[in-house]
Amino acid sequence: GRESTVSITVVGASGDLAKKKIFPALFALYYEGFLPKHFTIFGYARSKMTDVELREMVSRTLNCRIDQRENCDAKMEEFLKRCFYHSGQYDSEAHFVELDKKLKQHEGSRISNRLYYLSIPPNIFLDVVKCTSLAASSENGWTRVIVEKPFGRDAESSAALTRGLKQYLHEDQIFRIDHYLGKELVENLSVLRFSNLVFEPLWSRQYIRNVQIIFSEDFGTEGRGGYFDSYGIIRDIMQNHLLQIVALFAMETPTSLEAEDIRNEKVKVLRSMKTLEIDDVVIGQYKSHTRGGVAYPGYTDDKTVPNDSLTPTFAAAALFINNARWDGVPFLMKAGKALHTKRAEIRVQFRHVPGNLYKKCFGTDLDRATNELVIRVQPDEAIYLKINNKIPGLGMRLDRSNLNLHYAARYSKEIPCAYERLLLDAIEGERRLFIRSDELDAAWALFTPLLKELEEKRIAPELYPYGSRGPVGAHYLAAKYNVRWGDLGAEH
Ligand code: BG6
Repeated sequence: GRESTVSITVVGASGDLAKKKIFPALFALYYEGFLPKHFTIFGYARSKMTDVELREMVSRTLNCRIDQRENCDAKMEEFLKRCFYHSGQYDSEAHFVELDKKLKQHEGSRISNRLYYLSIPPNIFLDVVKCTSLAASSENGWTRVIVEKPFGRDAESSAALTRGLKQYLHEDQIFRIDHYLGKELVENLSVLRFSNLVFEPLWSRQYIRNVQIIFSEDFGTEGRGGYFDSYGIIRDIMQNHLLQIVALFAMETPTSLEAEDIRNEKVKVLRSMKTLEIDDVVIGQYKSHTRGGVAYPGYTDDKTVPNDSLTPTFAAAALFINNARWDGVPFLMKAGKALHTKRAEIRVQFRHVPGNLYKKCFGTDLDRATNELVIRVQPDEAIYLKINNKIPGLGMRLDRSNLNLHYAARYSKEIPCAYERLLLDAIEGERRLFIRSDELDAAWALFTPLLKELEEKRIAPELYPYGSRGPVGAHYLAAKYNVRWGDLGAEH
């Protein structure tokens, strides 16, 4: 058959995401030999730039130190030769016609496949999608578009965006990224559950007391306050990244590993969830704090944030899944900026051992004796299970020990960044790790009433110092459901 070629156009090529993630990921794929034989990369943006200038810009984003790549400089040279630039307005069909001409020159007589990565603010998504599909889509191969959140800011605006996109694209051309789905340990969740006999039978209300999904960052929103202030942490992290983790964690066994089968199960579990209520949510916002002589700014100290902003930079929430497997089990989420540590993890706390023979070895604090499975998504990826164990020696004393799968010790290869996996999947047409529109609708349905209520009632967030463990309200919320956050103990 005829040979084919892939043209990857990064729209918004000079933006932060493009520089930090997309170009480095494309190079990593090239270096590892995952890009097809024939490919071309185009940057598209408004500023004037020559191909050479784009290559300089891109080359500054790449580095060869990772994994001690051999022969890296030569590979980088080859890669950069396949990168080009086209400057144009985002809403000009004529400019996309010019892009189309350039793409055709590179594609020659091969079958043309085109991937557009929209690394641009959401208010111009539709303009660009319209232009690409009317003026620069493939005539004989596929055309796919990768979009990044925010996908609206509530159920209605998200649905409007989807309707807009679908004027120009079919659902199977739209690749909605949630980069958490590209993280190694998130992808591994299904492997852990469905290919080990020992976990799946325990995976229900019968044995699991609560599940915690915890995200924290040790830096604030400096520099992106403009974006952040109209979204807030619930839309930025919870409604997408953390909820996706819950869906994968809690879904029923899919019929197969096909994208539609997996996404069907995710939608089902999302639709079984109870709509969030304000009593099950605590919000916070960081305030300035001086530590060790260093003054850390508060959220509203950012010039791009209004002084009276009530936007949460921290939230904790209790979610419930009304189905036979999970009835009554609290799924607690916590997400915050400017906290004391940077971490993302899933903690599964198991029930007490009925009639525990060793009860007296734990004193009054029986909670300490329950098993806990921790899946540390980042940093320092690990899966460990806390068990009770006899301290070797005479007498009978127990302690808590970890059965520990520590990735750095077990696997020598560096873990690819989420964007590498997702870009490769998009090129290959694998949709498993992308969000389908009905999933997105279900996710918004859970959070929209709460988000509206917070805004309408102007609920004030609890202030917490930059670099702290967040508002104490999170503890009361957990306590209401008899839960203790697992990340706060002395030995985690
Ligand atoms: C993004 C959020 O989606 O995820 C950011 O908009 C956040 O606010 C980032 O910092 C976290 O991603 P990661 O991969 O660094 O954990």
